[in-house]
Amino acid sequence: MALHETHSETVFIESIDHEGQGVGHLSDGRVVFIEGALTGETVEYARLNFKGSNKASYEKGQVTRILTTSAYRVQPECPWFGYCGGCSLQHLDESAQVATKQRVLEDALKHIGNCRPEHWLAPLHGPTWGYRRRARLSVRLVPKKGGVLVGFHEKKSRYVADMDSCKILPPAVSDLLPALSRLILSLSLRERLPQIEVAVSDAITALVFRIMEPLTVDDEVLVRAFADQHGVQIWLQPKGPETAYPFHPLNAPRLVYHLNEFAIEMPFGPTEFTQVNFGINESLLRRAMRLFNPQAGERIGDLFCGLGNFSLPIARSGAQVVGIEGSAELVKRAAENAAHNGLSANTQFQVADLFKITPEAYAALGAFDKLLIDPPRDGAFELVNALPETGGPQRIVYISCKPATLARDAAVLVHQKGYRLITAGIANMFPHTAHVESIAVFERA
Ligand SMILES: C[S@@+](CC[C@H](N)C(=O)[O-])C[C@H]1O[C@@H](n2cnc3c(N)ncnc32)[C@H](O)[C@@H]1O
Repeated sequence: MALHETHSETVFIESIDHEGQGVGHLSDGRVVFIEGALTGETVEYARLNFKGSNKASYEKGQVTRILTTSAYRVQPECPWFGYCGGCSLQHLDESAQVATKQRVLEDALKHIGNCRPEHWLAPLHGPTWGYRRRARLSVRLVPKKGGVLVGFHEKKSRYVADMDSCKILPPAVSDLLPALSRLILSLSLRERLPQIEVAVSDAITALVFRIMEPLTVDDEVLVRAFADQHGVQIWLQPKGPETAYPFHPLNAPRLVYHLNEFAIEMPFGPTEFTQVNFGINESLLRRAMRLFNPQAGERIGDLFCGLGNFSLPIARSGAQVVGIEGSAELVKRAAENAAHNGLSANTQFQVADLFKITPEAYAALGAFDKLLIDPPRDGAFELVNALPETGGPQRIVYISCKPATLARDAAVLVHQKGYRLITAGIANMFPHTAHVESIAVFERA
């Protein structure tokens, strides 16, 4: 996207949207989305040229001058804020970020879901810096920038940002960025290594190098030396995520996270899905379990169960858990994790594509007393539509990473399937980004 001339019209910013852009109205009534503008501010902006902008019913822009400044505007901590695509809200005070996310959820439920919880949950807060224990970094050789870039993408661009630290990564990982850039420049594979996946466990950091061809013997020596010098474990991934294997050192502790309150240890693979923010994950789990209140003797479905992050704490209560998930690797991992924690007897895991579930396929799973649903951003539309209109689970706890799809699915549950929306709230799982994690509880009316 290219910047056009500064727009002379001043705009009052009424709210912030799900991408962290300020939203206002032009004098001709059209909506304008302005990057870098905050709620309550009056700004001037430069138009962003985007496809179809000439006849668009809305406009996009970048703030150029702030005429009235929000009391919640703060100095971004990161020198690459605004250029790197990793964060979009560092210029907003942390408590105001949370309030903004709460508002995004409220608006989505109201306008998309046409429903409102009977009461709101207080937002869940956690550490705001250094929280991101899973990340996918892009790698690109850019000779005119003097070497290899390792980092997130530039904002709204396919280019890799030229950054040498990152405040949302754990400090030890952030500190590695310049050394990683030098390492990759020294490899024969410098143009054939497009991505590094980072997974930080309680005891070790794993870096998964996506390689398009095998390392040479010289490369192997350099990579081993890097791993030894920095105390990390390097994995190699020649093809898809399931092909990742540990390269060096081979005797490193395995990747695990702990759910101490439930006496659970979760081994995981560095390319497997885990929540990125372990601290908030624990708080969210605590809250979900309190609201879910699983009981021995109940039969509970954990749909989109991943590696068993919710299934195993539920199983600790003595309930029977059926975990369903689309990835065969994660289902295998969930079953292994259940065994690892002595929970095999009351857990069962199966692979299914829940985006294609029909009422008949749902009924064939057998009756559930309660359901936990934790879908990806696309939500669980087919699943909620597959639920029966009477009977069915008494309680549903829905964990969502996209308010718009949660609200769409809530509309089905409340207006078609006979559920009450008891409560809802957000968890600040992704501080400084506009991503909103939320939880909603539905009860059979
Ligand atoms: C937000 S994650 C939640 C995982 C798990 N509950 C956790 O807390 O770690 C969503 C999960 O949905 C799975 N998934 C994505 N598409 C799916 C589909 N069509 N059918 C079933 N599972 C799917 C992903 O593999 C992922 O494990």
